[in-house]
Amino acid sequence: MRSLIDIHNFSVEELDSLIAVAKDIMESPDKYAEMCKGRKLATLFFEPSTRTRLSFEAAMLELGGSVIGFSEASSSSAAKGESVADTAKIITSYADIMVMRHPREGAPLVASQNAGIPVINAGDGGHAHPTQTLADLLTISVEQGRLSNMTVGFCGDLKYGRTVHSLIAALARYKGIRLVLISPPELKIPSYVKYEIIDKYGMEYREVTSLEEALPLLDVLYMTRIQRERFADPNEYERLKDCYVLTEDKMTLLKTTGSVLHPLPRVNEISVKVDKDPRAAYFRQALYGKYMRMALILKLLDEAKDKNDTRRIRADAGLGLVCNNPSCITRCEQELENLFTVTDAEAGIARCVFCEAKQYFKKTI
Ligand code: NCD
Repeated sequence: MRSLIDIHNFSVEELDSLIAVAKDIMESPDKYAEMCKGRKLATLFFEPSTRTRLSFEAAMLELGGSVIGFSEASSSSAAKGESVADTAKIITSYADIMVMRHPREGAPLVASQNAGIPVINAGDGGHAHPTQTLADLLTISVEQGRLSNMTVGFCGDLKYGRTVHSLIAALARYKGIRLVLISPPELKIPSYVKYEIIDKYGMEYREVTSLEEALPLLDVLYMTRIQRERFADPNEYERLKDCYVLTEDKMTLLKTTGSVLHPLPRVNEISVKVDKDPRAAYFRQALYGKYMRMALILKLLDEAKDKNDTRRIRADAGLGLVCNNPSCITRCEQELENLFTVTDAEAGIARCVFCEAKQYFKKTI
């Protein structure tokens, strides 16, 4: 069963075709109004959400389908201790497709291995958020007229900002993307993004701490909020929370053709005075997200007709490792097998299949 758990589940051709369908839906919505008649989408949100959940719901309704679901963990059986695997099996009997947001990294992957319907990852802990990436790609494509040959700056919480990780993974597939990674040292990009994506795809990048220094270089500035809920130490959050604020004054440093994106919600990293600047694309970005989610639902429901598609997790056997990331799904669902893939045999590095955390293994030779 085809699901969307990681943006790399789709080829660049598939991403381009989703963008093309979303643009067609924007132009001729009536053509699509009945396409999901009689189909049901289940939204399983174990973490707060406004845009992602409601844009999925609006997307399904605008395709003529219907929606069931819950918007907080406390109103689901997870509060009684039900596993993600069991929840996914149950939802298979009630809906044709499900969307899951969960604080544990890898939870939607576990769901997809146990469900008989497509599963969409709507954000798993600080790990990934591939449907926000779909919204971001459509936004860049519309606002900049292309998805290649440009400089994209990511600013703020690059450590816990899951939207950043997924968007970098998608941009790695396009030609001529240069990255400027703007963050305090404590909130730098995680190692798997640096080594498995940026280095592996040979992306040109630089890491800086000053937003002012980066601004004149950028075609796209992707601002993010500092992810308070992911900090183990609240004092650390207090210290870092206002490290970047994009103001009208700083906007004078950005090219006139530049675009400012933000997955939202904004806390105070972008002054509201910037909203009226035509380069501020973040509210349009939220609307584009609905059209991309419509295109995604259509694609996955269409592919679900192929019952022979049995993609399984790829893992390397016999490493005997246990994931040490406290936010990984394997740490709370005890019966879940720890699965790792070797990413650097020479250095003895493997990564957890669920959350991509790094673990060293003993080489036998
Ligand atoms: C993002 C998320 O949930 O990761 N929000 C969203 O889906 N648009 C960004 C965030 O919460 O900061």
